[in-house]
Amino acid sequence: MIKEYVRLLKARNWMKKNQPFLYSWHAYVGFELDLFSQFRKWRTVKDVASSKNLQEELLLRWVEVGLAIRHLKKKGEDKIKTASKFSLPSTPKNPRSTGIILKEMMELHIPTLLSYPELLRSNKRNTFDHEEHGPTVARTSSLLEQLALPRLLKMIRKNKIKRIIDIGCGEGGYLTRISVKFPNADLTGIEINEEVAESARNNCRDYKNINIINSNVHDYMPENKADLIMVNNLLHYIEPQDRKQLLFRLKSWLSRNGSITIITPILHSKKGEAFSSVFNSFFSAFENLYPTPAEEDIIHMAKELNLKIKTYKPVVTEGGWYFIQLSSK
Ligand SMILES: C[S@@+](CC[C@H](N)C(=O)[O-])C[C@H]1O[C@@H](n2cnc3c(N)ncnc32)[C@H](O)[C@@H]1O
Repeated sequence: MIKEYVRLLKARNWMKKNQPFLYSWHAYVGFELDLFSQFRKWRTVKDVASSKNLQEELLLRWVEVGLAIRHLKKKGEDKIKTASKFSLPSTPKNPRSTGIILKEMMELHIPTLLSYPELLRSNKRNTFDHEEHGPTVARTSSLLEQLALPRLLKMIRKNKIKRIIDIGCGEGGYLTRISVKFPNADLTGIEINEEVAESARNNCRDYKNINIINSNVHDYMPENKADLIMVNNLLHYIEPQDRKQLLFRLKSWLSRNGSITIITPILHSKKGEAFSSVFNSFFSAFENLYPTPAEEDIIHMAKELNLKIKTYKPVVTEGGWYFIQLSSK
């Protein structure tokens, strides 16, 4: 009897633990199909289903969940409206919508983590499709910009930095934000993904001091020395045994008192261990993505490169993300 009760309690506990998934799933579907915008004004399910050419019955199911978790509200018999607009993702037409993080989690992270049993049994790894996921990943990592930027700006100001190279610049978010504060700095972004580089060029077109180059960092060579080289959210694209070599090359591009800054999740960080370890599980599921470094790896690399770790500070503590500044001694 007690055994049966414990069994029930355990099952209930797992159900409850999984409840937050409901909110993310609902918000993801709403974002992907732009449904929260459709229901910005009071509308019926029938009306939205026919104007967006969607299955009415499934849309109704989605609406019912939305009403239960208060993402949506109801008036009269059948009029529905988006309830908590502030906390829900804005339209996918907005390149800065936070829905992009839901898209990455639901389309990339969760399916990959769910493939673990199959991967473990088969001894195989997935292949990360840079072309397909590049634009989403570049956009989600830009969410960190706001948090990391104050540290970067302070450093640029303090060290009177003039020439900056951003390796794996994504859509150019760091460069445009730096350009606003330092319109006379000379800024270069290196981006391997053609589509992402094109978006970066587009985003940077009004900033005359930014130059975007569509190239693999391994094939690139700057014309002039740089005072700052940024390596933001890039290390997991580089094999651990190649990182030292890459940083060694980057060091040779630095001016006399130049710095390299790295933003990366740190494995086994004091805080954010759960998040950084699951992030690492995600990377490791792909043959062409690589584990994040641990603090010891950074210390070891800096020592071998004869660089000093000037700053080692968390950017997102609960996520184990760090901002690291390496400078010539
Ligand atoms: C996770 S995103 C980070 C973007 C941006 N640095 C940020 O922190 O928001 C990494 C970017 O590096 C680019 N990348 C990966 N390997 C590269 C390489 N070998 N050379 C240049 N860019 C690369 C990817 O295409 C991607 O846009």
